[in-house]
Amino acid sequence: MVLLDGKYTSELVKNRIKNEMAEMQTKGLRKPHLVAILVGSDGASKTYVESKERNCQLVGFDSTIIRLDDSTSENDLVQLIEKLNIDNHIDGILVQFPLPKQISENKITQTIAPHKDVDGFHDVNMGKLAKGESGFVPATPLGITMMLEAYNIETAGKHCVVIGRSNIVGRPMSLLMSNSAPYGNCTVTLCHSKTVHLEHFTRQADILIVALGKPGFVKANMVKPNAVVIDVGITRVEDSTRKNGFYLKGDVDFNEVKEVASHLTPVPGGVGLMTIAALLENTLKAYKFQLKQTL
Ligand code: GUN
Repeated sequence: MVLLDGKYTSELVKNRIKNEMAEMQTKGLRKPHLVAILVGSDGASKTYVESKERNCQLVGFDSTIIRLDDSTSENDLVQLIEKLNIDNHIDGILVQFPLPKQISENKITQTIAPHKDVDGFHDVNMGKLAKGESGFVPATPLGITMMLEAYNIETAGKHCVVIGRSNIVGRPMSLLMSNSAPYGNCTVTLCHSKTVHLEHFTRQADILIVALGKPGFVKANMVKPNAVVIDVGITRVEDSTRKNGFYLKGDVDFNEVKEVASHLTPVPGGVGLMTIAALLENTLKAYKFQLKQTL
């Protein structure tokens, strides 16, 4: 079994971006700038946003975290995003989800200018993805295709089964894998909570992508021998013996599935790191677009 190493693969991507940044600086160009908005005090969201900021700095981007109170109104957040939309020195905007219940995630998603939507959640970018046109692709699905590419995993003509139909991972992943693109051209089955006889489908998958948020859900008997298995799950499981009080567990039973799969991503150290690398890639793309508009 080949371990699909997110640390190694994300470092390759980050080094490439770092080198490109160094070259741009010699031309006297400003740095890309990502703004991340964090509303409230959810522990996991805070960790993710801080990691995104750290990685921006690592590759030579500017980044700003705007921290807002739990009680922030939808209107205040909309007004803030509208200001960032027209600021020529800001290339990418992301609002970390989940948001407090008084704020509609869809309203916020549609407020971010599509050319600064580095999460790729706006209807314009989702529509482009559905049509196979160039736009921003959500970071987790994009990061997974970067991982497949780095390990030279052939996808054309393969049967890809995706479990989970979220707008952040499952649905865009299914579109990306079916698109006519180097890391696409799969026959795709999208499974979800109402799928009957899930194992019937997962056992046919050459590439199985699991994003349902149930730790340890996929067992060895659900996996076709020699399948490529991508685990997107990253649940915090309480554990009082650990310093931070939890450990991270994926949706795949790693110890069982490693005996059957040809390739498998670990949790942590797999897809999560690729999500960040893909976000940096999207931010660089947004920056290049912005630069063209203002030069
Ligand atoms: N919450 C969980 N995943 C994501 C993501 O990729 N982007 C944002 N903005 N929020 C998230």
